[in-house]
Amino acid sequence: MLEQVTKVHDEMRQGEAFGDAREEPHAFSRKFYIESYGCAMNFADSEVVASILNTQGFSATRNVEEADLIFLNTCSIREKAELTVRKRLTEFKRLKKANPSMLVGVLGCMAERLKSKFLEEEKLVDLVIGPDAYRSLPALIEEAETGQKAVNVMLSRDETYADIAPVRLNSNGVNAFVSIMRGCNNMCSFCVVPFTRGRERSRDAHSIVSECTSLFNNGYREVTLLGQNVDSYYWHDETMGETVTFAILLGKVAMISPLLRVRFSTSHPKDITDEVLFTMKRHDNICKYIHLPVQSGSTRMLQLMNRTYTREWYISKVNRIRELLPGAGLSTDMITGFCTETEEDHQASLSLMEYCSYDLAYMYYYSERPGTLAARRYQDDIPLDVKKRRLQEMVDLHRTHSLLSMQKDVGKVFQVLIEGDSRKSDLHWAGRTDHNKVVVFPKEHYGLHKADYVMVHVNECTAGTLLGEIVGN
Ligand code: SAM
Ligand code: SF4
Ligand code: F3S
Repeated sequence: MLEQVTKVHDEMRQGEAFGDAREEPHAFSRKFYIESYGCAMNFADSEVVASILNTQGFSATRNVEEADLIFLNTCSIREKAELTVRKRLTEFKRLKKANPSMLVGVLGCMAERLKSKFLEEEKLVDLVIGPDAYRSLPALIEEAETGQKAVNVMLSRDETYADIAPVRLNSNGVNAFVSIMRGCNNMCSFCVVPFTRGRERSRDAHSIVSECTSLFNNGYREVTLLGQNVDSYYWHDETMGETVTFAILLGKVAMISPLLRVRFSTSHPKDITDEVLFTMKRHDNICKYIHLPVQSGSTRMLQLMNRTYTREWYISKVNRIRELLPGAGLSTDMITGFCTETEEDHQASLSLMEYCSYDLAYMYYYSERPGTLAARRYQDDIPLDVKKRRLQEMVDLHRTHSLLSMQKDVGKVFQVLIEGDSRKSDLHWAGRTDHNKVVVFPKEHYGLHKADYVMVHVNECTAGTLLGEIVGN
């Protein structure tokens, strides 16, 4: 599948069903089933939704057949993401026919984009709720239970769900996502996010630190701070006269414990500062890995995309990262076939990728999104077969870089955070290095547990995994 990237990653997961594995208190009389699509922020939102539903007496189930309430938390980023959701909704038709009292709701970005039109198009949908309206879930469920269609897609300028403790769904008990901001003010011309998620706003810094502290106290050893543009995080407390930038926030979270690994995503090249890079350098537990989406290697394309930087500016950022954080992992997002892209522009993207030699790249061909600046101003004029051919060339090139990146780790020793059994064998652990690479190694007889750190010597690698053995802890 062309649109798929070369490596399984967290950024754009598809249709993962979440259920709470814990024993359920008796107060829960009804069950909800939630399936999430899109970026990590949507997955984090599903955990806020789960928390709100728990207060209403709903517990999570992994078995859709026994659910009283089904939610799809949807993504609109590309047309394909929306088609997947529509297909899934038709699959729920059968269940709804068998159990007419079952409610089906659409949450997230697609709900926001299509609003009440959804109810007309998809007759079986009972609720449509946008990303800033989850507090109204209890009232909307009540309304839907009386047979009315329930919709709330109001976007907010200040909602951050700061006071809601997310209920961790499908968690391995080691890594957790923590939302630090919502929305986006950037208006990249191809992107639907500013329309589906609204204006950018930062969450109260104290609530972020306290959520991360409580995760650590509950045994978690890695947090990923999430936002569409984390480097523009800015929180000001009028009463205390306190201002917290992203660099300050990173430092605060890193200081919770040296045993807590801190990651973040996503950084916009125009906003990542030296202050952030120095904070990363200062704290051993801030992972030396930066996701720095470039989108294109052609300055002309970047201008049309409204990314507000040039190829040279981006390269200077990458050079600065390599200077201050030698050996740091680097990943990116790329789009092929954006409006008017020539072969020369495409070659510029390939040569930029050659220069940066990314450890990981998420690559897509351009998908026009209604209502965006590009859809209104430019013609989607690159034929699909050309978009796909360029994407394939990019994927092939990146494959050589990611393999090189894996091979250069063979023979080295890394500190690995154990995340659980390897997928293939419970005689092996799987964990990650600071650079976000998966390492698999035999458990042997060290008496180690999930969430422990261990030193692993890498003996060999595949395209996506390092294979090694324990050399100490
Ligand atoms: N906020 C991040 C940033 O600034 O790079 C990324 C946000 S978006 C959820 C993830 C990626 O989807 C983007 O970096 C871009 O590569 C891709 N994307 C967004 N809109 C797209 C579109 N219309 N067609 C194809 N890919 C798109
Ligand atoms: Fe979309 Fe650009 Fe905002 Fe990222 S920074 S979410 S690509 S508008
Ligand atoms: Fe998709 Fe919305 Fe995220 S459009 S990528 S779920 S912000």
